[in-house]
Amino acid sequence: MGERARDAQGHGGGAGSAAKVPEFRPMLLSDVPVIAAIEREVFTVPWSAEAFVSELKHNQFARYTVMELDRNIIGYGGMWVVMDEAHVTNVAVRAPYRGRGYGEMLMRRLMQTAREQGAKSMTLEVRVSNEVAQNLYRKLGFVQNGIRPRYYTDNQEDAYIMWADLTAGGGTA
Ligand SMILES: CC(C)(COP(=O)(O)OP(=O)(O)OC[C@H]1O[C@@H](n2cnc3c(N)ncnc32)[C@H](O)[C@@H]1OP(=O)(O)O)[C@@H](O)C(=O)NCCC(=O)NCCS
Repeated sequence: MGERARDAQGHGGGAGSAAKVPEFRPMLLSDVPVIAAIEREVFTVPWSAEAFVSELKHNQFARYTVMELDRNIIGYGGMWVVMDEAHVTNVAVRAPYRGRGYGEMLMRRLMQTAREQGAKSMTLEVRVSNEVAQNLYRKLGFVQNGIRPRYYTDNQEDAYIMWADLTAGGGTA
């Protein structure tokens, strides 16, 4: 993990505090205001509430999951499952809850849902500077298999395209 700081939040199970087990459920229209607020907290180019409403109402390929602790949404993730490929659109854990294994649990849940929907592979884009997310994805079996130049509109940053074989048992451990 190289220079990565094992911080005071006890990342990786340190500091003696085991992560509470979160609950997962499909995202509902009534979640959208909270999701849009988290989206603004987390991303420099956030999706609007309308974008989430449109996904939930009109996109038959979309699958969005929320992750809750004590009935509070602490993260969410979404994807489009088209034929045998799942394309991740969003993954976010609220900042106070990071570094405790929740992002990994969320991604494992998305991978499991994708498998259940018939997907054999999963793909996503990630900022070249986002080493934390890249580490998470690599841990779950994703490999880099391309680059999208200037993919992000805020700073023209490139995206790595990452890909995982869902039939190979990735993310099931
Ligand atoms: C990316 C994100 C979802 C990870 O969630 P998280 O709950 O902090 O991650 P976890 O605690 O589950 O850690 C899982 C793995 O991620 C990597 N990771 C987590 N925190 C890290 C850090 N500070 N430095 C380096 N790698 C890190 C590690 O591989 C870790 O596995 P390990 O604990 O065995 O070393 C979260 O940081 C986030 O929401 N970031 C902002 C939004 C974002 O970047 N989304 C992805 C867009 S493509």
